[in-house]
Amino acid sequence: MSADVVTRSSEPVLAACGVTQTYRLNRARLFEKRPVLTALDKVDFDVRPGEAVGLVGESGSGKSTLTRLLIGIEAPVSGVVTFEGEDVGRMTADRRHRFRRSVQMVLQDPRSSLDPRMRVGTALMEPLRSLRIEGDHRARVRTVLGQVGLDEQALEKYPHQFSGGQLQRIAIARALMPEPRVLVADEPVSALDVSIQAQVLNLLRDLVDELGLSLILIAHDLSVVAYTTSRVSVMASGRIVETGRPADLFSRPGAEATRNLVDAVLTVRDGIAGTALA
Ligand SMILES: Nc1ncnc2c1ncn2[C@@H]1O[C@H](COP(=O)(O)OP(=O)(O)OP(=O)(O)O)[C@@H](O)[C@H]1O
Ligand SMILES: [Mg+2]
Repeated sequence: MSADVVTRSSEPVLAACGVTQTYRLNRARLFEKRPVLTALDKVDFDVRPGEAVGLVGESGSGKSTLTRLLIGIEAPVSGVVTFEGEDVGRMTADRRHRFRRSVQMVLQDPRSSLDPRMRVGTALMEPLRSLRIEGDHRARVRTVLGQVGLDEQALEKYPHQFSGGQLQRIAIARALMPEPRVLVADEPVSALDVSIQAQVLNLLRDLVDELGLSLILIAHDLSVVAYTTSRVSVMASGRIVETGRPADLFSRPGAEATRNLVDAVLTVRDGIAGTALA
């Protein structure tokens, strides 16, 4: 890659280029060869600075596998993941540290991602300690709490003292602590009450706008990513089968997997509307 390409502002901050991932499954019978499952098959995916992109697909299509490669906890069997234009598998320790700090994850269920015995204040500082980031941690906590709309009383409390929506705000706050460039959110609202899903999605959208963050939002539900992102990729059986603007995917779904996701959204909406009218 030439230097001028790397420095262009529209260059992806995080990208998967032709990544394939396989897993060896358990053999059904003794002495049989272990079957190999291709969870990702030559996938290209990226996010640019300040952009919110979505990844949708039915269960088992490979979304979380792609996420694990993008955040560097698994390496692909072929293809590369790049951060700021550099192969994350070949980084110096310094660059690797910057990558680990700059790409943060928000998980589906904040109740299981937050330690129940740890006060929120301690949990928020934890990423700074484990990444050995210096500076005024207390000031950073106050800034981040403001960004997610929580007050300082939260710091002394334990996770069980919060609602699911508040806990997901805390999980987002923790991800923001090391001043990341990219947030990767894998089904961040599917464990939440429908009534508070929009609040959390609005928060993610505001963070993209106000902090210039990049967001990768993963969901089963096309309406969730359509609401939050400007570009959506649809996965099926380990491949990206279609990428487009959410409105276009809804009005002109090209791939069968996209049509199924559109139908699923409409079925749920019809169901809700039908109930309300009954
Ligand atoms: N560590 C692993 N060992 C074996 N198979 C795996 C492993 N991780 C994922 N798989 C398989 O890879 C495929 C893709 O799984 P993945 O979790 O990425 O799907 P997903 O799109 O995130 O699904 P969901 O929507 O249910 O979260 C599935 O068939 C899954 O069973
Ligand atoms: Mg998953």
